[in-house]
Amino acid sequence: SGFPSVLKESLLKLGVPNAVLEFLFGWVNNHGDCPRIPEAKGSISAIRNEAFFIPLYELYLRYGGIFRLNFGPKSFLIVSDPSISKHILKENSKAYSKGILAEILEFVMGKGLIPADGEIWRVRRRAIVPSLHQKYVAAMINLFGQATDRLCKKLDVAASDGEDVEMESLFSRLTLDIIGKAVFNYDFDSLTNDTGIVEAVYTVLREAEDRSVAPIPFWEIPIWKDISPRQKKVSAALKLINDILDDLIAICKRMVDEEELQFHEEYVNEQDPSILHFLLASGDDVSSKQLRDDLMTMLIAGHETSAAVLTWTFYLLSKEPRVMSKLQEEVDSVLGDRFPRIEDMKKLKYATRVINESLRLYPQPPVLIRRSLVDDVLGKYPIKRGEDIFISVWNLHRSPKLWDEADMFKPERWPLDGPNPNETNQNFSYLPFGGGPRKCVGDLFASYEIVVALAMLVRRLNFQMALGAPPVEMTTGATIHTTAGLKMTVTRRVKPPIIPALEMPTLTMDAPISLSKGDNT
Ligand code: HEM
Repeated sequence: SGFPSVLKESLLKLGVPNAVLEFLFGWVNNHGDCPRIPEAKGSISAIRNEAFFIPLYELYLRYGGIFRLNFGPKSFLIVSDPSISKHILKENSKAYSKGILAEILEFVMGKGLIPADGEIWRVRRRAIVPSLHQKYVAAMINLFGQATDRLCKKLDVAASDGEDVEMESLFSRLTLDIIGKAVFNYDFDSLTNDTGIVEAVYTVLREAEDRSVAPIPFWEIPIWKDISPRQKKVSAALKLINDILDDLIAICKRMVDEEELQFHEEYVNEQDPSILHFLLASGDDVSSKQLRDDLMTMLIAGHETSAAVLTWTFYLLSKEPRVMSKLQEEVDSVLGDRFPRIEDMKKLKYATRVINESLRLYPQPPVLIRRSLVDDVLGKYPIKRGEDIFISVWNLHRSPKLWDEADMFKPERWPLDGPNPNETNQNFSYLPFGGGPRKCVGDLFASYEIVVALAMLVRRLNFQMALGAPPVEMTTGATIHTTAGLKMTVTRRVKPPIIPALEMPTLTMDAPISLSKGDNT
């Protein structure tokens, strides 16, 4: 502002009329001077210990929809504004990469679909998206049912033994079993066994999460990799998983070579409906390293996310018995005791709303990470290339400006006969699966998986927080975890008779009327 004001004074002295100067400098102030992004001040050290998105929420309330956070020499832009999020994710998505996320995940996902950028991403996305077609997802409903049935049986035993259960780890195993079969036709069977491969998956997952919250990239120190016992364990786990993936790819290639099936758009091999089988049958021209990276990416992307959604949904339900009974009523009338089928997904409307609302309160992951590849303008602020950006989905989903009673669990906020809420119809204030070209490819798969698991579990069992359970607090890796598990008491439901859906309202509404008539006579 120093130079323009000196210039203005000089021009005034030279006799340029004031009105002209006002016009000229008004324009300079609006268009020439860069408005600066608000900078969050104060101690950021708090971020290290608690779930890091919590202090970011406080800062959002103070500094608004975009602000800068300085971390020693590093700086981040925190975005919590729907239209800026839409700009980054959709309107100008080509100008952004996965940045830090790609760096952190490289050791496990390589150039898989989540971290990949540019041409590799474009080619792989085009190959993978068709594999999750309607008929594939419909075939998966059975798998979801069978896997959940195994969990139900396990919980039945706990219910009769009167033993409390830790649901977070059980959900993690349920979704691992499902994603292994769904992506590369491998049965981890982790609900029953603790094999070396299951342990290896968890070793790698834990490492990825630790790296994503570590302040120093210790794993980049060359000798460290070779002498740190922990890094050795991680390398061994990765090798084990990669070897198994290579075997599975080889086995699947042989199956494809021998089969007579003609490949077409909705191709599904009944014996092995996996994504891997589809990709190989499609003649997808891909290096085995790239294919392995993509399989590993889907394994991780589709595992902890769904598990976290189930965990937080059951936590929320335990606090709202009214919602739980309404949900159980719906499941009783739609399903009774049979396994869910694809047609039921449309009918389990309230169950879907429960999940919509759980995803609003506990978005997985709670932040999306990007890096600007070129200079750009966010809202009214110009930014340079190379900025690291966190889009806080947590802040968007809990903003008091965007939601009434933002912190309340109210599945009713979305009417049953309205559209299923998504980023488009909520104009980027709701991003359960991201948005734009990099939106989740597994959104429908995951939604059905969670509906099936939720419906089958609450049909058979009642869930309550266990007596003396540790308080349920949040911590983060890639998804939101509990700090000490979700300890619950399960009991068999005393099942009400199965009433066909249409007769329900007349039954419940007639009763009080006939009662009052009786009172009068
Ligand atoms: C991307 C959420 C399940 C595969 C994403 C993104 C979100 C998300 C928010 C966008 C990330 C970003 O923009 O940075 C979820 C949630 C799930 C879930 C909440 C469960 C409830 C799954 C499943 C699969 C999957 C089951 C695999 C079958 C992927 C892949 C991407 C992705 C491959 C990257 C897409 C790309 O960059 O082109 N997911 N996801 N996700 N998800 Fe999911």
